[in-house]
Amino acid sequence: MKKKAITVALATGLVLSPMSFTVDAAKPVPNEQADHAFDNKVIKKISSENMYNNIALLSKQPREAGTEGEYQAVQYIKSEFERYGYETKLQPFTIQEWDGGDSSISINDQVFSGDVHTFEGSINDRVTGSLVYVGLGSKNEVGDDVAGKIALIERGSYSFYEKIQNVYDKGAIGVIMFNGEGRSGNSFGYTYEGQDIPAVGITREAGLQLVDQLKKEDVQATVSVENAGAVDKTSYNVVAKKEPHPNKDTGQIVTVGAHHDSVPNGPGANDDASGVAATLELARIMAKTPTDTELRFVTFGAEEKGLVGSYYYADSLTDEEIENSVAHFQMDMVGSRDAGELIMFTPDGNKNLVTDLGASAGARISGAVDYGELGRSDHVPFFLKGIPAALFIHAPLEPWYHSPEDTIDKISKEKLQNVAEIVGAAVYQVARPDTPALEKARVAPNPVDYDFDDRPL
Ligand code: BES
Ligand code: ZN
Repeated sequence: MKKKAITVALATGLVLSPMSFTVDAAKPVPNEQADHAFDNKVIKKISSENMYNNIALLSKQPREAGTEGEYQAVQYIKSEFERYGYETKLQPFTIQEWDGGDSSISINDQVFSGDVHTFEGSINDRVTGSLVYVGLGSKNEVGDDVAGKIALIERGSYSFYEKIQNVYDKGAIGVIMFNGEGRSGNSFGYTYEGQDIPAVGITREAGLQLVDQLKKEDVQATVSVENAGAVDKTSYNVVAKKEPHPNKDTGQIVTVGAHHDSVPNGPGANDDASGVAATLELARIMAKTPTDTELRFVTFGAEEKGLVGSYYYADSLTDEEIENSVAHFQMDMVGSRDAGELIMFTPDGNKNLVTDLGASAGARISGAVDYGELGRSDHVPFFLKGIPAALFIHAPLEPWYHSPEDTIDKISKEKLQNVAEIVGAAVYQVARPDTPALEKARVAPNPVDYDFDDRPL
C-alpha cells in the first residue's frame, strides 16, 4: 500500500517543532475519529458525582496549611489514591506560621473587655503611656506630641507600613489601630522589620469609643503583647505515582495536580477542593488504563501561603526527573457555577505543550480553550524548572473567591465534568501507548486555533 509523508505543524512551534510521519494514503487522516475513540476511553468513565461527593467531603471544614483540617484532608486523599491502587507518599515540609500569642490593652487601669488582635510581626513588649489619636496616621496627622505615647490610629487610606512608620519615627511607644469604615472584626494588620513597638488591632466600634473618650478626658493606656512570634508547622504534599507499562516506557513523566489547602476561614469548595476532586477522579480512571508514560497525581499543601508545597515538590525533583517531565496540568477552581469560561494560564503568557494539548482536547470535546497569562498557582514552580505547565481555571472568578461562602452548593457538576474531560483527554493523548514518545509523536492531531485572552479575573 502506498504511503506518503505529510507534515503536521503543532499548534505552536515553541515546544515541539513540526514533524513528519506517515499515514496510509488510501485511508486518509482518521486522526480525529481515532482521537475521539481514545478520548472516550477516558471521558466516558469520568463521574461528576464522584467529584461532587469528594468536594462535599473535603469542604466540610477549612483546610488551612499546617492545621488539623489540612491533615484530615491529606489522609483522606492518600487513602483514596491507595484505594485506586497507587503507591502514595506524603511529602512533609515546614511552614512558618505567625502566632499572635496573648495581647491585651488596659485603659485607665481597666482591662479592655473587647477582643485584641496582635499585628503580624509585632514585637513582644508591655508599654504604658498616654493615648493620642492620630486619625489615619498620615505624616500630616502625626505630630511631635506622639513621642513617648501610644498612638490610636484608624485603619484605611495608607498602608500599615506607613502608618506605623510615621508614629514610630515620632517616638510613639505602642500602637492601637481600629478597623476602617465598613469593616468588621479586628483581624488585620502587619508590622515590618525595624518597627519595634507592640501593635494591636481592635474593632471599629471599640476604637470610635476611645476617640470619644479622648475628647472628654486624658487616657492612660497599656498595650501588652506576649508570646507572639513565628512557629513551625508541618504541611504536606500527597504524591501518587503510576509507572508506565514496562515494555512501553517512553521515559516521560506527566503530572496532574491541585492544591488541597484552603484559606483559613473558607471551606474552599471551589478553591481548591474542586481541583483535588478532579485530580482524584482522573487518578481513579488512569489507574486501570494502560499507559506508556509515568503519571503523577499530586495534591499540594500551603499553596495559599505562597505556593510553598509546589516549590518544595519541584525542588525535590532530580535533574533527570525534570528532564523527563513533559507536562504539568494544574487544576485550581474548576467547578464554580458562578465563574466564567475555562481558560489555561501560563506564567509567561506563551503557549506550550500543555496548552496545545488542552486546546485540542477542548476542541474535540466542547470547543477550543483559550489561554492567558497568570501565575498565582502551583503551575509556577514547574514553569520555573522549564517544565511545560498551565493552570486550568474558570475566569472571571466567582464572587465567593477566598470567602466563607465558597461552599458546595455553588459547585456545578457540568463545569467539573467538562474540565476533567478536557484534562483527562489531554493527558491521555500523551500517555496512551499508541502515541510514541513526544519527540516523535503527533500529539496535537491538527493545528487548533486558540487565542490569547486577557479577560478580567
Ligand atoms: N486559586 C487561587 C489562584 C487564582 C486567584 C487564580 C485568582 C486566578 C485568579 C489561589 O489559590 C490563590 O489564591 N493564590 C494566591 C497566590 C499565592 C502566591 C498566595 C493569590 O492569588 O492570592
Ligand atoms: Zn487556589
